[in-house]
Amino acid sequence: MCGIVGYIGKNEALPVLLDGLKRLEYRGYDSAGLCIVNHEAVRLRAPGRIENLENLTRATPPTGSLGIAHTRWATHGVPNEANAHPHSDCTEKIFVVHNGIIENYRELKISLEKSGHRFTSETDTEVLAHLIESLVPDAGLVEAVRLALLRVKGTYGLVVLSTDEPDKLVAARNSSPLIIGIGEGEFVVASDTAAAMSYVGEEITLEDDDMAIIDARLPKPIIQKLDRTLRHPLPQAIQMNRQQVERGGFAHFMAKEIHETPFAVQNAIRGRTVSEDGMVKLGGLEPVAEKLRQARRIIITACGTAYYAGLTGGMMIEEYAGIPTEVYLASEFRYRSLPFDEQTVVLGVSQSGETADTKAAIKEAKNRGLLTLGIVNAVGSEIARKTDAGVYNHAGPEIGVASTKAFVSQLTVFALMAVYLGRMRNMPIKTGCQILRELDNLPGLLQRILRMDESIRVLAAQYAHYDNFLYIGRKYNYPSALEGALKLKEVSYAHAEGYAAGEMKHGPIALITKDFPTVAIALSDPVYGKMISNIQEIKARGGPVIAIATEGNEDIKHIADDVIYVPQTMEMLSPILVTVPLQLFAYHIASLRGCDVDKPRNLAKSVTVE
Ligand code: AGP
Repeated sequence: MCGIVGYIGKNEALPVLLDGLKRLEYRGYDSAGLCIVNHEAVRLRAPGRIENLENLTRATPPTGSLGIAHTRWATHGVPNEANAHPHSDCTEKIFVVHNGIIENYRELKISLEKSGHRFTSETDTEVLAHLIESLVPDAGLVEAVRLALLRVKGTYGLVVLSTDEPDKLVAARNSSPLIIGIGEGEFVVASDTAAAMSYVGEEITLEDDDMAIIDARLPKPIIQKLDRTLRHPLPQAIQMNRQQVERGGFAHFMAKEIHETPFAVQNAIRGRTVSEDGMVKLGGLEPVAEKLRQARRIIITACGTAYYAGLTGGMMIEEYAGIPTEVYLASEFRYRSLPFDEQTVVLGVSQSGETADTKAAIKEAKNRGLLTLGIVNAVGSEIARKTDAGVYNHAGPEIGVASTKAFVSQLTVFALMAVYLGRMRNMPIKTGCQILRELDNLPGLLQRILRMDESIRVLAAQYAHYDNFLYIGRKYNYPSALEGALKLKEVSYAHAEGYAAGEMKHGPIALITKDFPTVAIALSDPVYGKMISNIQEIKARGGPVIAIATEGNEDIKHIADDVIYVPQTMEMLSPILVTVPLQLFAYHIASLRGCDVDKPRNLAKSVTVE
């Protein structure tokens, strides 16, 4: 996944491009580059972080009010200057920035080389620049881009400029997100709103097969499909505000977003509960309510953290709505020969709404004629638009690459869904009221947990030197163990494995030594006794144990080495509380180990390639 910014308007492009790239750095940071046109084109590119590119601009800042820029997460070709975007044609008049994968780039490259084009990079993107170059003489820039895209197979969000037509930018989208910010006599094209919002007040979200011709002399862009039919989307006022995308005084976005979990729960619940009736209103599902009433099977599919939310959510729906639920990794879903019937519903869970594997799973479900739903945070994202219905998280932008508040929000939405579906069936009002009452208590309980931040940091300092961790849990908190391990490994680079506690004896216990600590989720719930047995088995082998326990349980202090307490709540909602100390623990270990917490190595916020 990469970040793209384009600018055309009345002001200098350079500051807009650099500021925009910094807001998009979470999308990838292997290399960065820009091209600004002022009669001639000035292209600067640098491997590594955006500050390396910014340093290149200091000596002689390129001037001009037409430009494009890119921050890269490498898919084809190592992260070096030659492979950094923008890529150009042979004449260095046409420049392209691209997010996605051109699947047929090899055959196109061979054909272009045969007709004399000289390539300077290993990337798939460079093919676009030469293909457009080959078509421009007869067609002009806009039509050349359109004809080129008709020959391309794959995914793209791209912006093109030409020094021969400096009055326009041409943008296009197929699968990779792209918005056009509309200001007063200026436009900012970007991979997401955060990169444009400081300069414009409205935006248009491009759809697949859209092309946009952006001319600063016109009040808004011309949007056409690849078949040249015009589309007239209404510009939308930008909702996001600067404070939302700033760190708010926290050292990292991850810390800020963990501390936003109470608001994430509140925002997920807001306007969706009728407490006195134990009912939930999910407006996004109303159009398909009757089909959901008939649903006899729910298949949840997602990736990473969202998949773990699906595992917990599936248990909630099974226990409280009585609907058989299966949960599949989206990347594995397509390889299954699952028998479906018309009462099967497929539910995709995705914070970004742009994860390629999850999009592919949804597409397969739609091809099979199944009802598709989404639980999505990014408004207007592809999964949100391509599913038949869905529920937005309303968690606000999640900038840290590691998902924190979005995961808490996903669990909250699943709890709402369990009540929504259950009350359509046999869930008594009493149960509905109880769940909604407990949900309403969660933000306050989360605030209590967040007040333990410093004590968790102190505990993390005692464990930051270990290189291996085991996370174990059962039932509702088995996925919590998986997610806790993922959080630690992806931000601190320590090896961490999440396991069903019942599996300890089937292998993992062989790993236990004094240098291999275990985080054991042992709440005062129906599986507590078995969890204590697991902890004792580990202690018998000298393994350090950090227990996540329920407030008031004094006994566990005599069994585990360290205890992190969370308040009591319903068993089905306990993962929402358990995950926050695990997120804080991972955050502090990563910080103490000097890791780049918000932009961990090799990762990107949304994996828009399969
Ligand atoms: C979360 O901490 C990870 N960065 C990653 O597993 C993420 O959850 C996964 O890529 C799915 O992303 P999505 O929710 O945007 O689809």
